Amino acid sequence: MSAITPVPRDKNLYWYKGFCFIKDMIQPEYIDSLKDFKIRDDDVFLVTYPKSGTIWSQQILSLICSEGHRNGTEQIDTNERVPWLEFRALNPETDYNLRPSPRLFVTHLSELFAPRELKNKKAKVIYVMRNPKDVIKSFYHFENITLLSEKSPDFQHFFEKFLDGEVYAGKWFHHVRGWYTLKDSYNILFLKYEDMIKDLRSAVKKICTFLEIKLDEKSIDIVVKKASFKEMKTDPLANKENMPEDLIDKKCGSFMRKGQVGDWKNIMTVAQNETFDKIFQEEMGDLSLNFTWQIPE
Ligand code: A3P
Repeated sequence: MSAITPVPRDKNLYWYKGFCFIKDMIQPEYIDSLKDFKIRDDDVFLVTYPKSGTIWSQQILSLICSEGHRNGTEQIDTNERVPWLEFRALNPETDYNLRPSPRLFVTHLSELFAPRELKNKKAKVIYVMRNPKDVIKSFYHFENITLLSEKSPDFQHFFEKFLDGEVYAGKWFHHVRGWYTLKDSYNILFLKYEDMIKDLRSAVKKICTFLEIKLDEKSIDIVVKKASFKEMKTDPLANKENMPEDLIDKKCGSFMRKGQVGDWKNIMTVAQNETFDKIFQEEMGDLSLNFTWQIPE
């Protein structure tokens, strides 16, 4: 790890208040304005660090909240069903104030930039986290398909950028710690990617309970089926295949890559793993957070 550089190594990013943002997608004035974003009591905010199962959770949330999604009568893209709070350019036509309730949003923002009203326990927050070693591997591959960041020449380069927080959403450690340690200020449900892999049905039921939505067993079956990796991979509305071509290079891959736990073992060297474990212990050792690093453990 090196000290924070004045300019991120990736020229598509910029530092703002200690975090890296994407130049072409979000401006400082807009980031600041989100503090005053007007919230409704029944809004639901899905919060993730990148590559932690965002697209998956967006799909699950939408399936739970929309009967038309479950029964296939509504053909709507994921980014339209659960729009981005910070990436307004992806939904330029939509006035968020006019969206019908309950509104669903997704964000990668650190809790430092989150709408202030969330702290009054107004609205619900679902925070999905993933073991950071798999996040690193997934993020490294994502550089091949996103046109919003520069490709790292090799994994070691990306590894160092990641540890320095020189990727969108900043340091993983800060993101998870920020939301987790302030959990009592929010009406928040924490989920783990690995638990969703192990038992998706239970995760779906947990979300339903949190959102106070009653679904019968048949509807739950549909949610679980339509949110499976296999189904999502072949559903362009679910897997963001319709993202603008200036953002994603579809020839080079997809958001749906492997969907596994423990894939980090196929890329991290013993030395990288030891470095990571040491930093993880320093940064997260005081928190009562456990991660599943591989299945079976
Ligand atoms: P991998 O790159 O490890 O395969 P995000 O949406 O936050 O960018 O996260 C993307 C990661 O979630 C990718 O991980 C992707 O394969 C995985 N993912 C997406 N949908 C999934 C699903 N239905 N089941 C399991 N993993 C899924």
